[in-house]
Amino acid sequence: MPATTSAAIVEEVVGRKSMIKDLRGRGALVTGAAKRLGREIALALARAGANVAIHYGRSEEDARTVVREAEACGVHAWAVRADLSVEEEVRDLVDEAYRLAGPLDILVNSASTFHASDFATFTRADLATSIDVNAWAPLVAARRFVELGGQGHIVNLLDTRVAGFDWRHVAYHAAKTLFALFTRQMALRFAPGVQVNGVAPGSILSPSGQGAEHLERLGRESPLSRVGEPRDVSDAVLFLVATRYVTGQVVFVDGGRHLLEMNHG
Ligand SMILES: NC(=O)c1ccc[n+]([C@@H]2O[C@H](COP(=O)([O-])OP(=O)(O)OC[C@H]3O[C@@H](n4cnc5c(N)ncnc54)[C@H](OP(=O)(O)O)[C@@H]3O)[C@@H](O)[C@H]2O)c1
Repeated sequence: MPATTSAAIVEEVVGRKSMIKDLRGRGALVTGAAKRLGREIALALARAGANVAIHYGRSEEDARTVVREAEACGVHAWAVRADLSVEEEVRDLVDEAYRLAGPLDILVNSASTFHASDFATFTRADLATSIDVNAWAPLVAARRFVELGGQGHIVNLLDTRVAGFDWRHVAYHAAKTLFALFTRQMALRFAPGVQVNGVAPGSILSPSGQGAEHLERLGRESPLSRVGEPRDVSDAVLFLVATRYVTGQVVFVDGGRHLLEMNHG
């Protein structure tokens, strides 16, 4: 057998191709998909064949670029704006995604807001703002997905911090912890039609405006001793949407960081 043929077979059987479900014709909505991890996830779904609604808040131009990149994969894609801190807009977003993409099979709740807040000084407003976008909006989106007859998969982007504490981002940590609880509750309440799982990234991308140094140090401290790549997160999403008998799980894409005693900050 020629080497190229056997290499192709190896890739087909044990390589990336065999991990990726064919999502041709499926409809997906990814929130916060104009940039960073949301963009990576949306494009991974597009490469697997799904038509994708690209949600954005402020990054309209970036969202339009992602639409073009997704379309280049041979799928349909649309950019849809919504302020996720406004409940009505969250519901309208899901309705609009249905109108554009048809019945949705996949909802990925990736958008988030990440601000510093200290345990000694954080305010009720800090908490409310963080919960609105990081926990309440995805719950509202998920409920609407189900109300409209959505069948398939919901994947919620959590954070490795849910395994411990973060004393510098207290409101964010509380909201993500609540979102982890909602993820398990959704898995129970939306079964059997919808599988609901979480992906909890660790050190993948530095927060906007921050250098890579801090992230690289955290990466070195993880058991796998390195930072991850956006593709590590989208691979986990692709894995989860390919499963048929997995729900209520959280996949930590963090180099093992959640296994360490965690006191961030
Ligand atoms: N990056 C990491 O290494 C890492 C680590 C741990 C956990 N995570 C989690 O993984 C997910 C993706 O991470 P990321 O770093 O890509 O997220 P991100 O850059 O912090 O946020 C993604 C998008 O969320 C949107 N967003 C925020 N507030 C919004 C609002 N009120 N209305 C509408 N959109 C809003 C923004 O869209 P616009 O720009 O269009 O306004 C933003 O681009 C998040 O849930 C995050 O918590 C990421």
